Amino acid sequence: MFGAVQVGLFAAGVVLFVPMGMAGWHLSRNKMLFFSCALFITLFVGVHLVPYFPSVTSFISTPSSSLPPSSFIVNRDYCFNLLHQVAFDYQELGNNNGSDSIIDSWKWVDSGNVVGCDFQKLSKNDASDLLNGSWVVVAGDSQARLVVVSLLELILGENKMESIRGDLFLRHSDYDIFVDEIGMKLDFIWAPYVSNLTDLVHGFQGKTRYPDVFVMGAGLWDMLHVNKASDYGASLRSLKDSVVLLLPVASTNDDSNVVVPIRSPNLFWLGMPKLISSMLNTDEKREKMSDVTWQAFNDELYKKKLVQQSGGPMFLLDIHSLSNNCGARCTSDGMHYNSVVYEAIVHIMLNGLLIESNQKL
Ligand SMILES: *[C@@H]1O[C@H](CO)[C@@H](O)[C@H](O)[C@H]1NC(C)=O
Ligand SMILES: *[C@@H]1O[C@H](CO)[C@@H](O)[C@H](O)[C@H]1NC(C)=O
Ligand SMILES: *[C@@H]1O[C@H](CO)[C@@H](O)[C@H](O)[C@H]1NC(C)=O
Repeated sequence: MFGAVQVGLFAAGVVLFVPMGMAGWHLSRNKMLFFSCALFITLFVGVHLVPYFPSVTSFISTPSSSLPPSSFIVNRDYCFNLLHQVAFDYQELGNNNGSDSIIDSWKWVDSGNVVGCDFQKLSKNDASDLLNGSWVVVAGDSQARLVVVSLLELILGENKMESIRGDLFLRHSDYDIFVDEIGMKLDFIWAPYVSNLTDLVHGFQGKTRYPDVFVMGAGLWDMLHVNKASDYGASLRSLKDSVVLLLPVASTNDDSNVVVPIRSPNLFWLGMPKLISSMLNTDEKREKMSDVTWQAFNDELYKKKLVQQSGGPMFLLDIHSLSNNCGARCTSDGMHYNSVVYEAIVHIMLNGLLIESNQKL
């Protein structure tokens, strides 16, 4: 149980240190003040309302068996686990056919737990501030490219995005852009196979600067062209071995036994989408990219402990869960989904970064 004094001290610490942590994360001074005030208000409201919500209270006062008794850490994992709890909204089209509808919006679900985490769709300005001065690398297949499109749409605005869309979609090519206004460098690296990702990560070893945000994912090409889950698993293992070498040596904080990473790139893994067999556009795809194969490939992600959800180094951006949730209405080829899915993934990632930067005290 946490007494009022501890909660008060904790709140004071958060108000003081979170903005400082964010400063390390290239947030501008004004934005720090903004987040600091926002946090203060959130905490004030939180601290005063918590006693009235039994579910929140029980969450806060239940120490997790394996973790140190820090509500910060419990809170972090707790909210990370809820990040994918989103719902898609149907929008009836303005014709009189009655049957046509498109899914063009999404939001986090309204359940009490999720609301407690206070996830936010970031505005262009907030996202720009969060990523100000950052180096973002996104590597992978067409899913990764669609994530880049959504991220740039948010940061540049749709109009400016339209003017570069052609360059970004040159088939099977890399793309890089430096966004002057916020000093953000973004590299998209075409890396359709897991082995391409491993080569890429190798290339970063021994370098003095790593990306601040490193998003990668591959699997569909391995599935279609190699089609053996065990080979995919072996590739994932080598990838994991090289990713781990990028991570800083952790040190132990004396008084709390909390392992504090000294400096780490924020690593995200882009999961594979839901594949809708009947909609795939070739016989070969329909045959090789079945649900059973998908499952076998996906299992390797956990067996090889690549993602945090199985104790690994990368946070899974679960495109499968979102695309499955959005459903057949959100795709025309059973594999690439409407932008709403990737937009949600981008906001999930940015909220993940916000939670993570709160950790870097
Ligand atoms: C109704 O749908 C059909 C085909 O989906 C389309 O050709 C037609 O224009 C639509 N009618 C209206 C009033 O939008
Ligand atoms: C980005 O950061 C730089 C320096 O930290 C600052 O001068 C600039 O105003 C920031 N830009 C935005 C859009 O916040
Ligand atoms: C990716 O890996 C494949 C198989 O190892 C190789 O043939 C291809 O050239 C690589 N592609 C890139 C872009 O590195």
